[in-house]
Amino acid sequence: MRFDHRPVIAVLLVLALHQPCLHFVSAVGVNWGTFSSHPLPPSKVVQSLLRTNNIGRVKLSDANSDVLESLSGTGIGVVVGIPNEMLKSLSSSKKAAQSWVHDNITRYIPATGGGVRIEYIAVGDEPFLLSYGQQFQSFVVGAATNVHLALTAAKLSSKMKIIVPCSSDVYQSDSNFPSEGHFRPDLNKTMTDLLSFLDKNGSPFVVDINPFLSLQKNKNLSMDFVLFQTKAHAVKDGHLKYKNSFDANMDTLISSLSKAGFGDMDVIVGRIGWPTDGALNATPSVAQTFMKGLIDHLQSNAGTPLRPKKPPAETYLFSLLDEDQRSITSGNFERHWGIFTFDGQAKYNVDLGQGSKNLVNARNVDYLASKWCVVNNNKDLSNVSASFSNACSHGDCTALSPGGSCFGISWPGNVSYAFNNYYQQHDQSGDSCDFGGLGLITTVDPSVGECRFQVAIRSSFSSLQRVLVIWWSVALSACVSIYLLGFSWC
Ligand SMILES: *[C@@H]1O[C@H](CO)[C@@H](O)[C@H](O)[C@H]1NC(C)=O
Ligand SMILES: *[C@@H]1O[C@H](CO)[C@@H](O)[C@H](O)[C@H]1NC(C)=O
Ligand SMILES: *[C@@H]1O[C@H](CO)[C@@H](O)[C@H](O)[C@H]1NC(C)=O
Ligand SMILES: *[C@@H]1O[C@H](CO)[C@@H](O)[C@H](O)[C@H]1NC(C)=O
Ligand SMILES: *[C@@H]1O[C@H](CO)[C@@H](O)[C@H](O)[C@H]1NC(C)=O
Repeated sequence: MRFDHRPVIAVLLVLALHQPCLHFVSAVGVNWGTFSSHPLPPSKVVQSLLRTNNIGRVKLSDANSDVLESLSGTGIGVVVGIPNEMLKSLSSSKKAAQSWVHDNITRYIPATGGGVRIEYIAVGDEPFLLSYGQQFQSFVVGAATNVHLALTAAKLSSKMKIIVPCSSDVYQSDSNFPSEGHFRPDLNKTMTDLLSFLDKNGSPFVVDINPFLSLQKNKNLSMDFVLFQTKAHAVKDGHLKYKNSFDANMDTLISSLSKAGFGDMDVIVGRIGWPTDGALNATPSVAQTFMKGLIDHLQSNAGTPLRPKKPPAETYLFSLLDEDQRSITSGNFERHWGIFTFDGQAKYNVDLGQGSKNLVNARNVDYLASKWCVVNNNKDLSNVSASFSNACSHGDCTALSPGGSCFGISWPGNVSYAFNNYYQQHDQSGDSCDFGGLGLITTVDPSVGECRFQVAIRSSFSSLQRVLVIWWSVALSACVSIYLLGFSWC
């Protein structure tokens, strides 16, 4: 008697199609930065944003110990960053690289297993950016080499790879056709060395893409083309057709890699996103359209015209949270890249791994009192502009810029906005709402429409709270480990 395998195969197929691990063909993670005056506590970010929203990978700009400790035992894949300022010393000293690895990597990876799942070390942060000139260029490959040697000595080189996140201005196409992409001539020798290093160690090329800035700089670029709209006018390059600027940008890089002799190198997107405030076109609704277009494109597994069916293996969205201390040299939008506000509230919806469900906001955020600082309308305000400028130069007034969420509120509402921001940044201390007698503390929320008057997060933890938090993280990671061992086959 012959056994009919067909029903079994059908069942297996159904199972395979429903495998939760196959949700993302191309994995999506987030950049998690901490340039913030009042950051959410790292343990809260991990437990109440990353885990609840099923975010499986994070990219960090440094090796902040509170952040790394909070990721321990979670199974979340981590990229640890090395700031550009450290490249010089790491490239000139093997010892410095050894101490960096010892202090910032080895201690999070216990020999007994567990710890932090560090997958990559990012050496430098866009060190070849045109606006930086040559200041980091000659140290990058040396630093990467020394960190690699230190990893090998620590027997960790099989666990993690070294990457160098590059800005997309390291390559260009004079005609704008992707097929004519090539690396910047002034980088020729450095790039040749870097690509050989990456190739030898099986590392991917990591590129940061900034479509928002491209749109601001290049008036020829259409919004529809950037936002993955089907109605966008396609661009023809020989027999290839480009339907969005993401593919065109990626293929300009692929052409550059091919020309340099590394056409098969894997590519990872280290940073891509859309800001929501501080400039025209920077709104939650445009950001949602961009993110949805990007994620749908990645999930479709379409790839690009030059690499069909091969989307970037990993893409790190920029970014998880707003950071009010980021430099605004390239624009006031720089402090508003977050998918979530500084206090962990989703600005819009996008599938970060949680599927069709809405994003979950951070819960039980420990705010300061419900108090705001506004301008006292009963006073003579003829001299208020000096206080206004002073508040803005120390606080964050980027939401007042043209196109920003508070641009529409009229005088003296915008003065109140500045006063309040200064007051919250100074932890609501009484004298930070003085302004020569023109400030007034109120318990009525002065927010108007989209323009939100913030209340800061309590920034210092009492030691008792710290102990409790550590206790809870240990208990939670134990539960998670038991859960993973018992039920999951991912
Ligand atoms: C470890 O990383 C931190 C944060 O990036 C840095 O300040 C520190 O200098 C590093 N340690 C060493 C030994 O380089
Ligand atoms: C925009 O298009 C015009 C006309 O085709 C061209 O001359 C110009 O160089 C383009 N600008 C950019 C930044 O691509
Ligand atoms: C460097 O220049 C040479 C000669 O023009 C070229 O063949 C090579 O592809 C360039 N390398 C890179 C990485 O651009
Ligand atoms: C405003 O400033 C000027 C010059 O410093 C001063 O003479 C004037 O008294 C001030 N007015 C008020 C209402 O404080
Ligand atoms: C504040 O509002 C007034 C009136 O709308 C406007 O003239 C002024 O430029 C605003 N200041 C800032 C910094 O937004």
